[in-house]
Amino acid sequence: MTTGSDVLELAPVIPVVVVEDADQAVPLARALHRGGLGVLELTLRTPAGLAAIERVAAEVPDVVVGAGTVTTPEQAERAVKAGAAFLVTPGCTDRLLDGVAGTGLPFLPGVSTVSEALRVAERGLSALKFFPAEASGGVDYLRSIAGPLPALRFCPTGGITPDNAPRYLALANVGCVGGTWLTPKEALAAGDYARIEGLAEQAAALGPAAD
Ligand code: 3PG
Repeated sequence: MTTGSDVLELAPVIPVVVVEDADQAVPLARALHRGGLGVLELTLRTPAGLAAIERVAAEVPDVVVGAGTVTTPEQAERAVKAGAAFLVTPGCTDRLLDGVAGTGLPFLPGVSTVSEALRVAERGLSALKFFPAEASGGVDYLRSIAGPLPALRFCPTGGITPDNAPRYLALANVGCVGGTWLTPKEALAAGDYARIEGLAEQAAALGPAAD
């Protein structure tokens, strides 16, 4: 896996995970894997995020673990040291883009406008996160920009559910979707990994909606 485009090919859904306790990371990664998903994005929005990445990278070799909610070059550096295989950012300042590109890891920069997408494309990138997808215009927006931006492909996240995911996956400029619905807060708190496995199984089977 060398580019952001490779990240888009790993699964129909990238589970976006917020962990409160790094001890949850390995069992949840294994549950996702049993359900059929070999990728997950552990966000750095909680203090446990970095240690969680470290554990999954060391103990669950069958799962590709990325770092999400990377908002500074310093976080990108720390995620690399923890063993992240890819990086995801919610937005794209020049400083952040320089920082994540400097790590040499594949990454998905977050964009929500055409101008942001063009700025990122000027750097030679063609795989982007579209965030926050539903709030930014959703399926209609992505369909509208496919004409003027034919080389770009997206991972929409933010408001994606098993119900609306197939409509995104049917778009030519969508490689996969991302979302937090696979790891509900209460399931993690209760250690209900069977539920997470079931949600992963359902997500792994998602595909394009028929018209
Ligand atoms: C993200 O960081 O990608 C989003 O917070 C995921 O959004 P969701 O909680 O609506 O899936």
